Amino acid sequence: MKRLGVNIDHIATIRNARGEKHPDPLFASKFVTKYGADSVTIHLREDRRHINDNDALDICNQKNILVNLEISMNPEIVKKAIKISPNYICIVPENRKEVTTEGGLNLKRNKNKLSSIIKRFKQKNIRTSLFIDANISDIYLSKKLDVHCIEIHTGKLANLVKAKKKYQKEFLRIKKCARLAKELGIEVHAGHGLDYKVTKLLCKIKEIKEFNIGHFIIGESVFDGLPKVIKKFKKIIRNN
Ligand code: PXP
Repeated sequence: MKRLGVNIDHIATIRNARGEKHPDPLFASKFVTKYGADSVTIHLREDRRHINDNDALDICNQKNILVNLEISMNPEIVKKAIKISPNYICIVPENRKEVTTEGGLNLKRNKNKLSSIIKRFKQKNIRTSLFIDANISDIYLSKKLDVHCIEIHTGKLANLVKAKKKYQKEFLRIKKCARLAKELGIEVHAGHGLDYKVTKLLCKIKEIKEFNIGHFIIGESVFDGLPKVIKKFKKIIRNN
């Protein structure tokens, strides 16, 4: 069964725009879980532009919610993540000026750092995932790093599909990577830029076990409401 992780960072973005308490990310984490999210994703960024330390702590303290905490390799944030102890961690690259996570991790450059971080999370029994671009050498490196999961950055595919450009090459690249990762015993996730159409397309890759989706879910909910949008995604994921 494929799973849906709902990223609620932009609930915090809306709250922070007013500097007050509404809408509340903790309430949102319970709400999306009630309406079918298999897990809740939050990104504790170094610049705290959306989710803050209290949000992360409060959300991770909910016993009946599976939380996937996205973090960079920043030592302070890694230390915080270990203290907060979420169910899952996804390590992502971070660049202060970016609007969103623009690409996957540079595994080659950071292999020693990543190896020691992954070991620390393993000791805490935290399922760990690496956010990577779809390339074969990174799949082999992920295996060497002995990580539980990879999350393939689907931004390039999503942009091509949305621009009605040829996307087959990128789709095949993702498919090959997903297949190899599965063969090597790594669980495969996908995320970034996903809407209904791109998710439906990626559901053809049976090796992908989890989708993490944020911006489109929160944006579309303005028109359709969170329960209906989550239900539509679950239907796509179940039926493909
Ligand atoms: N997965 C990861 C690792 C991400 O960094 C992000 C963006 O924060 C997402 C998924 C969700 O992307 P989007 O908001 O475009 O759905």
